[in-house]
Amino acid sequence: MSDTSSASIPADEAVVVQKAPFAVDVESGKKYWWCSCGRSATQPFCDGSHKGTGFVPLEYAADKDGALYLCGCKATCKSPFCDGTYGKL
Ligand code: FES
Repeated sequence: MSDTSSASIPADEAVVVQKAPFAVDVESGKKYWWCSCGRSATQPFCDGSHKGTGFVPLEYAADKDGALYLCGCKATCKSPFCDGTYGKL
C-alpha cells in the first residue's frame, strides 16, 4: 500500500495517496464511503481519519456488482471515480 502519512500536509489539503486509481469490486445494494481527504489507512475508503480536517467522505451506493476505479490522488473532478487527473500531478 502507498504511504498515507499526512503529518506534513495542511488539514485543508488532500493527501495524494497514489497517482493511480484503486480498482475495487463492489456489490449491488451496498454503500461505500470514498475517502476524499487521503488520510484513511483503508484506502480508498474512509476510516474516520478526516476528523479535524475540512473533508468528509463521499457516499457511493452501488447499483450493480462489478469493478470500479476510484480516485487515488484525491484530485479528481468526478468523485469518487478516477478521471485521469493523477497524470497531471
Ligand atoms: S478518512 Fe478521508 S474522508 Fe474520511
